[in-house]
This record gives sequence, structure tokens and C-alpha cells, in this order.
Amino acid sequence: MHCVTCSAPVNIAVVKYWGKSDETLILPVNSSVSVTLHQDQLQAQTSVAVSNNFEKDRIWLNGQEQSIDNARIQNVIKEIKRRARKQKAGNRNDAAEKLNWKIHICSKNNFPTAAGLASSAAGYACLVYALKCLYQIDGDISTIARCGSGSACRSVYGGFVVWDKGQRQDGTDSMARQIQPHTHWPDLRVLILVVNEQKKHTGSTEGMQVTMETSELIKERIGSIPDKVEQISQAINNRDFKTFAEITMKDSNQMHACCLDTYPPISYLTDVSRRIIQLVHYYNKKSQEVKVAYTFDAGPNACLFLLKKDVQKVLHLVKHFFPPTRGEKDFIRGNTSELMETESNDIEDYESYFPCDPMADSLRYIIYTMSGPGPQELTSDQSLLGEDGFPRTSS
Ligand code: PMV
Repeated sequence: MHCVTCSAPVNIAVVKYWGKSDETLILPVNSSVSVTLHQDQLQAQTSVAVSNNFEKDRIWLNGQEQSIDNARIQNVIKEIKRRARKQKAGNRNDAAEKLNWKIHICSKNNFPTAAGLASSAAGYACLVYALKCLYQIDGDISTIARCGSGSACRSVYGGFVVWDKGQRQDGTDSMARQIQPHTHWPDLRVLILVVNEQKKHTGSTEGMQVTMETSELIKERIGSIPDKVEQISQAINNRDFKTFAEITMKDSNQMHACCLDTYPPISYLTDVSRRIIQLVHYYNKKSQEVKVAYTFDAGPNACLFLLKKDVQKVLHLVKHFFPPTRGEKDFIRGNTSELMETESNDIEDYESYFPCDPMADSLRYIIYTMSGPGPQELTSDQSLLGEDGFPRTSS
């Protein structure tokens, strides 16, 4: 049996991908830009094993066996094997043999899938990276991760990433590239506000489809994207927080405006999401400086970008206006040791920052994190599969 275990990160788009030009190849109608988050807080882990003794291909996700006959998983496996054969990795006898063996895949996230965080991006990036290591494939794998879930192609790299939509009909140039590593902007921080009451939302695949069919506004959006990608890439290169923050917020608002312009309309934002948006704008105005940016994916959770020096103050504000009723224990998760190091500057006059009543119990918890590196190969003692090729009981 040959077994490889890897980890991969979640990414948050600051210029969103919304709409496909090809549903099968997963080709986007626009390029997008993202920040890869740190794996210490949010990570998928995947073990892949091949053996001559396995009877059939099998997959276990977060402890449950799932059907492997999922079109996207099959596409990924097919594409990886095609690449492996093409690269003549098969010249090495063991690699050629491995391509015909059955495969066992076991994957889990270190964060609750139910929290509505982008888990499929990390999951598919991790699967593709693990298969790349297993079959010893060289070169870019973002085009393969894209076949699992569009946004997964950006999780193949750490730091700051652009997914170029590409021109070719076969999708071979629709790939991700790193524009800066995570070490480029050491002060940038991220707070993920996980909203309570996660209802079932329209999935991104279906949402994008209906938007493309019915929205007028989406055409306007697509036309405006190349300039935005250029400007935010410059802002990242220059660590220009103001420009980065403004484009991030405007792009999130525009994506959600296109969702509302969809017929029937799609609304991912809730009252709590909208209250977070207002709070950010009040705070920025009061500070006479753009200090915080928000962005929302296909759900109500907010992802806030800010600089390390402002984290304590923003956390005070968020806790004041969205207080946990069950006490503060575990309310703030993630890199909490860094919070101990920074000074806690309490605020006297909350009302001047935001003239609204607090909304108790509206946030489930907050994750404090930052940008981080791309997928990694882990050691065999971290394998989710035992020596027999089946999930270890703890997986
Ligand atoms: O990759 P998908 O199909 O889960 O689409 C993701 C879409 C958004 O998260 C809303 C935006 C993005 O660019 O990540």
C-alpha cells in the first residue's frame, strides 16, 4: 500500500467568482482574487492510499463513508490519472502500477462543516494535492482542483492568489497563480464572524446558474472585473489597506446585489449580516480612516479584514453589539494567544461608534486568523488511514 497525507487551507475571495461560462469544465465568467487563510485555524486533511488489495474505490468524509460516484470527485481522479500518464511518471515501475490500483480517500476538516465556512475549497484542494504527491505529478494542479469546486483552485496556493478566468474553451488556461506569499503582509488579520441560525441556502452552483440566466446586473459586473483585479492586485503589492478594503467591500456588495437581481431573488445576507456591514461603516467613519473591510460568500457569515493594531478595539465593538448570552468562553477562537500579547484598549462610548441596540446571541463564535501558506504534505503518523487502508477510529 502507498499512502500520502496532506493538508490544505480555506481561501476567502476579495473579488468574487460568481457565474460560469462552462458548467462541466467549471470555467468562470470572471477572474477572481483571494486571500488564503492560515491552516492553524481552518484546514482540511486528506489521506489517499492505493493498494493492489483494495476491492473498490472508496471515500470517507468527516467520519462518514460517501458515494465515490460523485461526478466532481470522478473528474478530479480521472484528470489526475490522465496527467500522471501523460507525464510518464509511469516510467517508474511502481508509479505505473499504482495508477491501476483502487484508491481509498479519507478526509476531515478541523472546523465544523456545519458552520457554513467554505469547506469544499479546502477539501478539493487537499484531495488534488494529495493525489499529486501520490502519483508524483509535476506542475500546476489548480486546473484540476477547479474541476472539483471552482474556488478550490485558489486554495492550491498560499498567500494572495488570482484565478485568471482564461481564454481557451478547453479551460487549460483557467488557473490560479500566487501574486504574493502570506509573509508579504504580516500585519493583515482576519476575523470570521460565524452567524447563528444557519438556514439552508441556495447552493453556489445553482445560485450562479440562475443569476447568469436572469440578472441584467451581472453583465455590468463582468465588465468591471478586469480593472478591479488589477487595482486590488496593486493594493496587495503595495500593502495599501484602504484600497484593498474598499474594493473588497464594494465587490462583496456587488455580488450580493447581483444575487438580489436574480429572479427569483437570492438573499444570502441576513439582518445580522447587514448590521455587521453598518457597524463597519460607522466605525470607519468615526475613525476617519478605513480600518475594517467585510466580505460575504454564499451565506450570512462575515469575514472581516483589518490590521493587527486594530484587532482589540474591533473585537470590543463586535462583542458589545453582538454579545454572546452564554458567556464569553470559546466565543473567540483561533489565534487567541496573539490577543494576550496585544494591549486591550477598551472603549468608553460605544454609542458614538454605532447608534444601535446590541443583538444578543446573534453570533455563534468568532475565528481570529490571518493569511497562511498553501497545501502541505504531512508525516505518516498523521495519516487518517490505518495500516489496513481503512479509516483509523479517530478519523
Ligand atoms: O467554488 P464554489 O462553487 O463553492 O463557489 C464559490 C463562490 C463564492 O464563495 C461565493 C465566491 C468565491 O469566489 O469564493
